[in-house]
Amino acid sequence: MERATQYELQLAARMSRLGTETAFEVLNKARALERQGRSIIHLEIGEPDFDTPANVIEAGVDALRKGWTHYGPSAGLPELRQALAEYVSRTRGVKVTSDEVVVVPGGKPIIFFTILSLIDVGDEVIYPNPGFPIYESMIRYVGGTPVPIHLHEERDFSLDVNSLASLINGHTKLIILNSPQNPTGGVLPRRDIERIANAIGDRNIMVLSDEIYSRLLFDGGEHFSIMSVPGMQERTILLDGFSKTYAMTGWRMGYGVMRPDLATHMTRLMTNSNSCTASFTQVAGIEAIRGDQSSVDRMRDEFQRRRDVFVAGLNQINGFSCRMPKGAFYVFPNISKTGWKAKPLADALLDQAGVAALSGTSFGAFGEGYLRFSVANSLENLQEALRRLDRWTQTNL
Ligand SMILES: Cc1ncc(COP(=O)(O)O)c(C=O)c1O
Repeated sequence: MERATQYELQLAARMSRLGTETAFEVLNKARALERQGRSIIHLEIGEPDFDTPANVIEAGVDALRKGWTHYGPSAGLPELRQALAEYVSRTRGVKVTSDEVVVVPGGKPIIFFTILSLIDVGDEVIYPNPGFPIYESMIRYVGGTPVPIHLHEERDFSLDVNSLASLINGHTKLIILNSPQNPTGGVLPRRDIERIANAIGDRNIMVLSDEIYSRLLFDGGEHFSIMSVPGMQERTILLDGFSKTYAMTGWRMGYGVMRPDLATHMTRLMTNSNSCTASFTQVAGIEAIRGDQSSVDRMRDEFQRRRDVFVAGLNQINGFSCRMPKGAFYVFPNISKTGWKAKPLADALLDQAGVAALSGTSFGAFGEGYLRFSVANSLENLQEALRRLDRWTQTNL
């Protein structure tokens, strides 16, 4: 709220370059409508609707009782860093030691800290578009030059390696990859990841590999990381976390895996910003990573079931056509045949149909013509959303 004051707010210039994540704004608007008595189906926010697994909650509560309520080391508790080093070594087939792991409050700080620690004014960063909006926001914030790589529907939103190769030049400092991808559910196949490594060759370019959805691959798909390609480990910063895999969005915990000299600098950024990730959260994280994993598979199977129903339903709706996403929990239908632009359509669907979705343009300019729906809601609610969308298009198109 604006306040009358004789002192003008003198923001730093960089604040005008900071972007946002629209999901939180749409969520607020949807909640305001609900307070007026409206029924809204929430398909806007990217978080699992499941509870955190019981064994993890128990470990967190137990940790609170046992006094894990104090500061810990900035880079994370040694036992969690060790557990994560073992997990990444096993799942990515590389040798990782605990001094290469930095634990932070969520996946997002790894994006921020990577860009803060590597990007100077004028450095170019190649990033997926449509893509997670925080990449472009952070690149601009630090004065870097964002270089979008356009993801195309015809390729199931998997990036074209030749296009990527043509964007690399002497100013390229960082390439951001994200597979499985938000917002499209696109997945980079292993052979393309190997070709990307080939295109980078022996250039001194770093790769931020955002693998936060690595455990959410459908139809038996297997995750593959660019960190696993021989020669790429020391040029890769792997981002992974607990938010999506273990339904732990509100606990705030993620991690980066990177060469130890860079890990030291990320740790300095942690000391300067957060001091450390919450200690009891990290103790719960040890249980999440080492304990029973059956809930992870159950959640993935349920997301796949919902994806199948929702995509099939969308394809029956006038003006919508939708590819089958291969991972994550989003669907990204083409809505250009409705004759509407994405943002006004998302607004109208919220206001008039009671379905909250995000405009594809929330994920960059190349998201025009698409909407993003999260299938992290019950099958009943997804079916009701389909009925509402169908009714709305029958009346309005
Ligand atoms: C691609 C991607 N990376 C990172 C994050 C950040 O996750 P966290 O909530 O752990 O900060 C998200 C969350 O939506 C995401 O979609």
